[in-house]
Amino acid sequence: MWLRFKWISTQLVGEEYSVKVLGLVGSPRKGGNTDLLVSAVLYGAGAGGHEIEKINLYDIDILPCMDCKGCKKGNFQCALKDGMKKLYPKLEEADVLVFGTPLYWYGSTAKMKLMVDRLRPYVASKKLKGKKTMLLVPSEEGADACSCLVCMFELSFKYLEMELSGKLLVQASERAEVKNQPKVLDEAFALGKTLT
Ligand SMILES: Cc1cc2nc3c(=O)[nH]c(=O)nc-3n(C[C@H](O)[C@H](O)[C@H](O)COP(=O)(O)O)c2cc1C
Repeated sequence: MWLRFKWISTQLVGEEYSVKVLGLVGSPRKGGNTDLLVSAVLYGAGAGGHEIEKINLYDIDILPCMDCKGCKKGNFQCALKDGMKKLYPKLEEADVLVFGTPLYWYGSTAKMKLMVDRLRPYVASKKLKGKKTMLLVPSEEGADACSCLVCMFELSFKYLEMELSGKLLVQASERAEVKNQPKVLDEAFALGKTLT
């Protein structure tokens, strides 16, 4: 369910308008570092007047892309029947997609990668074109260890014609360790709040 903190009026048309920000948590640890970072960005976005929603990918059944190429034809829809059926409309509705994943073996978690693989329908339909993205990554080793993961996301966003408008690579290992890093949480909050 989208949560709206307050409305913003567009000065151009005088209509009520707000940005929809969808947070995707790709960690199995609920209340863990990724979860907290995504929540901080969403709280910031909420404080900035935007609509927010957070989805934990581990709550969704996501099958692997089978490369059937069905999404390249007709109405460009994925043929697989799983939890993505509910996630696809949310991805399309959102103006900003916040991707949160812990670093697992220098890449994303397998669950996050399953979801990214399933973005293939959008290569042809271009329904994600122009959306903003954010990338939030906690890891034991910190930012220097995240270059392969960041490269994968940057190239994928570019391919889908989405814009990377902020990233946070945080050193944190123990469960909920970012709670002890108020500067990092403030930074995440500010990233969300300054979204337009
Ligand atoms: C299977 C697995 C692989 C991991 N691989 C790395 C890694 O390559 N580099 C690293 O710095 N941290 C690695 N970590 C540590 C996590 O990135 C780190 O604990 C992170 O804070 C977990 O985030 P979470 O609380 O959101 O799950 C790994 C953890 C697990 C469970």
